[in-house]
Amino acid sequence: MADMSDVVSFSAALRTRSRTAHSTSEHAGFMADLMSGVGTRDDYVALVVQHWFIYDALEAAAERMRVDPVASVFLSDKLTRLPALEADLDFLLGPDWRETVTPLPTTEAYVARIRRVAATWPGGFVAHHYTRYLGDLSGGQYIGRLMQHRYGFDTNGIGFYLFGDIADPEGFKNVYREQLDAAPWDDDEKERVIDEVLVAYRFNTELFEDLARAKAAQIA
Ligand code: HEM
Repeated sequence: MADMSDVVSFSAALRTRSRTAHSTSEHAGFMADLMSGVGTRDDYVALVVQHWFIYDALEAAAERMRVDPVASVFLSDKLTRLPALEADLDFLLGPDWRETVTPLPTTEAYVARIRRVAATWPGGFVAHHYTRYLGDLSGGQYIGRLMQHRYGFDTNGIGFYLFGDIADPEGFKNVYREQLDAAPWDDDEKERVIDEVLVAYRFNTELFEDLARAKAAQIA
């Protein structure tokens, strides 16, 4: 088993061990096309829809975790994304969007996984929480600005990427990493949490693949 000695902090080990999975997710064709402008505004909207299902599950799970002594440390109302996603969809699709949106297969599996770990395993919940929110506060900041530029949004439509209550994302992420390092997990549990982060990355990558397939099916 890998040595999780004090030399490398848990947060640093987590980042190193997930670097390849991050790169795979980042360079998935659907995302790369959105970033380069090959993708369309509709592609962007399709991603926002899937985010809505995912954050609905993640933030319901966060509610359940409020009473957990370990996981609750990572929770912050400043992170909450669901209202922003709903405002984005109101703007992008009009007020009746709830009647038209459906989750893709990977989203359904991702949501089921979030619900299962939130019911049984605080460390697993933290893995999913970390993968989404630290990503949103990192690359997400850049992605939001690029979407604004590529698809002509002001702030309507990209509210998901705007963390109005977090003035200093870097500082926020540093505190979060300190909390990861202070979590009372033994080496086995740390391994399990890292494995769950890799699972979360895989869902995100497969979601991009689903989105590409759904788009191809529409065009055909
Ligand atoms: C075009 C897509 C993406 C770009 C350009 C991007 C870019 C970045 C950048 C520049 C960082 C900062 C790295 C650092 O602080 O050294 C980062 C961190 C991160 N990203 Fe992404 N990213 C993308 C997609 C994703 C996806 C799909 C996920 C997963 C949902 C994700 C999750 C994360 C996480 C969890 C971190 C924080 C790592 C840590 O500091 O522990 N990213 N990303």
